[in-house]
Amino acid sequence: MNPLFLGPAVTAGIAAILALLIALTDRFMNDYGEVVLDINAGKKRLDVKGGSPLLGTLAGQEIFLPSACGGRGSCGACKVKVLSDVGPHLPTELPYLTPGELAQNVRLGCQVKVRKNLELELPSYLFNIRKYATTVLAIRDLTYDIKELRLSLPGGEGASATLSFEPGQYAQIVVPPHGEQKAEVQRAYSMSSEPSEAGVAEFLIRLVPGGLATSWIHSSLKAGDRLDIVGPFGDFHIHDTPAAMICVAGGSGMAPFKSMLNHMAHTGAFPDKEIWYFFGARSMRDMFYLEEMAALEALLPRFHFVPALSEPKPEDAWKGPTGLITNVLDEWLKTRIGPDIPKEGYLCGSPGMIDACKKVMGQNGIAEDRIYYDKFA
Ligand SMILES: Cc1cc2nc3c(=O)[nH]c(=O)nc-3n(C[C@H](O)[C@H](O)[C@H](O)COP(=O)(O)OP(=O)(O)OC[C@H]3O[C@@H](n4cnc5c(N)ncnc54)[C@H](O)[C@@H]3O)c2cc1C
Ligand code: FES
Repeated sequence: MNPLFLGPAVTAGIAAILALLIALTDRFMNDYGEVVLDINAGKKRLDVKGGSPLLGTLAGQEIFLPSACGGRGSCGACKVKVLSDVGPHLPTELPYLTPGELAQNVRLGCQVKVRKNLELELPSYLFNIRKYATTVLAIRDLTYDIKELRLSLPGGEGASATLSFEPGQYAQIVVPPHGEQKAEVQRAYSMSSEPSEAGVAEFLIRLVPGGLATSWIHSSLKAGDRLDIVGPFGDFHIHDTPAAMICVAGGSGMAPFKSMLNHMAHTGAFPDKEIWYFFGARSMRDMFYLEEMAALEALLPRFHFVPALSEPKPEDAWKGPTGLITNVLDEWLKTRIGPDIPKEGYLCGSPGMIDACKKVMGQNGIAEDRIYYDKFA
């Protein structure tokens, strides 16, 4: 062999041997066999195969922890109290846990591997969360990048098999393996349908360019397809207080508000609630549901819809408020909504919009602990 090639050949050989050793170690050392999960002091005992993250191991037993990011360690939703010693918290867990949670060994279920028998403490509401095998009833464009997705729950439209949820909650859509994507992924989407709509769950899905779930939903999903969803999750909901609801959304952040407003209009819930709903879009091509919101204003006398465009085009012939939604919100709070009435903030959309709105609300006297939100990220 040419001595020039000897060095690289030896390096490649060592790398290959190391790779083989790592594979063998993983195969034999990480075979944890059958282990037992003891949940809530013996109320449930599950025999499971060790070696996988707790989130997926529990899901395999039909116990679904919340998971807005699908197990990537970037949402902090999959918290679970582990009573057994599973080693120190990982750096990936630390940003999502409060000092109190750290002290109680609350862990992120997607970051902790099941390697031995574990004792867990789970809140009872988790046992009501189910996986539903749905069928796509319809999927249609609301704008160039937002689709309305209507799913028929098992049993079909009008069936009694209804997803029981509070308006504002979300479900996880299970995106099956497709193309290069070899494993299923789950992403969180707020229900835009109202809970009383039997047998149907509706979602508004905004395309995130290059996004795994939304690209597949926008380009491949069609009426008649099967689609699993898991839910309901989340604590974004209407608070039963005398305070006025000051709601702000953009894009698919419309979803939970559509659900809440239709719920109030059709069930008579919270009849005395004053509601101001600010919806921001760039131009008319990003605006949707204007007729639906006008119909809700007719049904709910104390509901005011304030759509605003930040960059209206001449052809939009827009006569409504213009400017960033934060500026419109600020102006309305100062001039049109009584400064003395108690108010609560409800926000849904991008993290940037939510943080900017929280600031404006704070400057206008809405206490931070009275501002509720779901960040869509
Ligand atoms: C509680 C909750 C409720 C949600 N409800 C809805 C809803 O009703 N409708 C809806 O459309 N979305 C909603 N989301 C967002 C949704 O869960 C996904 O994060 C989003 O659809 C992107 O998924 P993806 O797989 O297409 O993109 P990914 O493959 O996860 O991400 C691709 C890239 O885009 C970035 N990214 C992720 N999300 C966004 C975003 N929203 N905007 C810009 N960049 C992003 C990621 O950081 C990544 O770099 C919600 C999120 C949460 C936490
Ligand atoms: S599922 Fe998102 S952090 Fe664990």
